[in-house]
Amino acid sequence: PHFREDNLSEDTKTLISSLPSYKDSEGNLYNYKGCWYYPNTLQGVLNYEKGFKPQETDIILASFPKSGTTWLKALTIALFERLKTDTYSDHVLQSDNPHGLVPFLEMSLYLKSSTPDLSKFSSPRVFSTHMPFHTLQLPLKGSPCKVVYVCRNVKDVLVSLWYFRSAHLQKEVEMESLFEPLCKGVGFFGPFWEHVLSYWRGSLEDPKQILFMRYEEMKSEPTAQVKRLAEFLGCPFTEEEEEDGSVDKLVELCSLRNLSGMEINNSGKTFNNVPYSTFFRKGEVGDFKNHLTTEMENKIDKIIQEKYNDSGLKF
Ligand code: A3P
Repeated sequence: PHFREDNLSEDTKTLISSLPSYKDSEGNLYNYKGCWYYPNTLQGVLNYEKGFKPQETDIILASFPKSGTTWLKALTIALFERLKTDTYSDHVLQSDNPHGLVPFLEMSLYLKSSTPDLSKFSSPRVFSTHMPFHTLQLPLKGSPCKVVYVCRNVKDVLVSLWYFRSAHLQKEVEMESLFEPLCKGVGFFGPFWEHVLSYWRGSLEDPKQILFMRYEEMKSEPTAQVKRLAEFLGCPFTEEEEEDGSVDKLVELCSLRNLSGMEINNSGKTFNNVPYSTFFRKGEVGDFKNHLTTEMENKIDKIIQEKYNDSGLKF
């Protein structure tokens, strides 16, 4: 698991001893370049920084945890898959979970090595990350590869994280144990607002490199958002596809209901034993209303308002 320290090189152990640290209910977090990581994940970040060699056609799907990563992965896979086959029976999404098909750079591929074997990836290679943009960006060094970021209302992210953690630990964790660190900006991959702003600013600077998507918009207008994603990724829907209902079919294929009903997503697990089923829950906008007190809501709203202040980012 990410919060262990059993994967660290001697250099990383030395580095860690000089970094600001914070202990949460899972273990120690370390602040590296403004972002908080559990030790094994930090090793993955360092390996990535050292060893990743971008290809021009690479696609990186980025998010803060619980913001719609699984959905974005499924949609991206389905968009490219439709160029290979027009049948939805026997689809690749039925044989593997989106996280198996689009692995994380720092939490999977580069977790143990700065030179992993990436030969099984065909072009375009699709990877994912929870790193903030300023860290992701380093090895990309001006490569024209594309980054898609999905952002979600922080209050729903918090509630989703609470369910996810509780499912893992097989007991209901205290909401406070996640709420407080989130507000202080010390949670895993936090601060949340710095994360969002790093990609938001990146997308304003170079809209051809970064597409900024929002979970809430994907929910309210999936067809329009999937078309936007397809265009950005350079595989827009043809007129014929638009007319024959292909866009809606793809949206339906990747719907929470459809994916969560698939055998693979009920029986499978990630390489580090996280049941795929825990990535699918309600998928609603505003579920926080059932779980957060008004006081908690107000506190988060105030922080976000301050942090997003003059960024032009609405919440
Ligand atoms: P909830 O816990 O609010 O239901 P991530 O994929 O980044 O881990 O985020 C998980 C959240 O996305 C969960 O939110 C989950 O239900 C939701 N989700 C997963 N697959 C989805 C899909 N295909 N469509 C919409 N939401 C989805």
